[in-house]
Amino acid sequence: TVGTIVSFLMYGEMFFRPVRDLTEKYNVLQTATTASERIFALLDQPTDEAAHPQSAQLPARPLEKSIEFRNVHFSYDGSTPVLQDICLTIPVGTLVGIVGATGSGKSTIANLLLKFYSPQRGSILLDGIPLEQIDTTGHRQRCAIVLQDAFLFSRTASENITLGRNLPTTIELLWGQLRKTHPELAQRLSSLEQLHERGTSLSSGERQILALLRAIAGEPELLILDEATAHVDSHTEHVLMDIVEQARRNTTIIAIAHRLATVRNADSIVVLHHGRIVEHGTHHELLARNGYYATLWRLQQLEVLATTNGEMHPAQQHR
Ligand SMILES: Nc1ncnc2c1ncn2[C@@H]1O[C@H](COP(=O)(O)OP(=O)(O)O)[C@@H](O)[C@H]1O
Ligand SMILES: [Mg+2]
Repeated sequence: TVGTIVSFLMYGEMFFRPVRDLTEKYNVLQTATTASERIFALLDQPTDEAAHPQSAQLPARPLEKSIEFRNVHFSYDGSTPVLQDICLTIPVGTLVGIVGATGSGKSTIANLLLKFYSPQRGSILLDGIPLEQIDTTGHRQRCAIVLQDAFLFSRTASENITLGRNLPTTIELLWGQLRKTHPELAQRLSSLEQLHERGTSLSSGERQILALLRAIAGEPELLILDEATAHVDSHTEHVLMDIVEQARRNTTIIAIAHRLATVRNADSIVVLHHGRIVEHGTHHELLARNGYYATLWRLQQLEVLATTNGEMHPAQQHR
């Protein structure tokens, strides 16, 4: 009968569905196994030192004089030039701003300084010693970098700053300074019981403030800010630059910025264009020169004016 056929089909379906589900689960398991194999392969990668034992040598000694880029040429793929003939001397204890359009090579300078890559030609000298001769681990321990976004753990704000390092006095000092300059913010941040994973309970500005405090808590000799204020409002940018200003006494700072106003108080500003240094000087010197920097500055001032007037600048209307 029809009834028999229908129940046969239904029973058949009831029998085969779990079988199908089971094979699907097996697929997932297979994918997970391959993925974890790749992850473990990555974790098992030898570090540079283990791979090239002859390249680890001099211990990283405290910086005393300068960081120098001497005719540095660099390319990621060996053919497309990314940095060309970079010559730059950064005296220890100064704040240097690096500005330039997206893709001009700003972050690459940070990558080279942290020894993630080595220049193909020319060298980076720290107190006259080529960077490639300095122990990588020791070198990175004295550097700190703040990127556009930082990872925050579901712990208190203070724990996110110390990251398990034993820094009770430094932390007190940092909160103390912040309390003096921005009491409400310090109160809010330091009283947070537990952040949400990745800091989703905070604004992007507050996350950056914690990231910056985390970086300077370790008292780095070299602090690199790579567009650390790119995603924050101008008020938070002031707070961040205030904190940088306080750190300025003890450390050499390289501040990479898209917005020129961020680094106008730097001791010197380097203007990168297509991987070359096209201008170099203080904010006022660069304005007086009336070149590329001055043009960029005027353009950005116009944008600021346009946004503060509540109207849009023609250049922004099409975004
Ligand atoms: N890891 C990489 N591998 C290959 N090319 C890269 C890599 N990182 C950056 N580049 C290229 O190098 C150039 C400079 O990049 P970058 O230093 O990040 O510029 P900026 O920070 O000024 O925006 C760009 O053309 C970019 O596409
Ligand atoms: Mg960059």
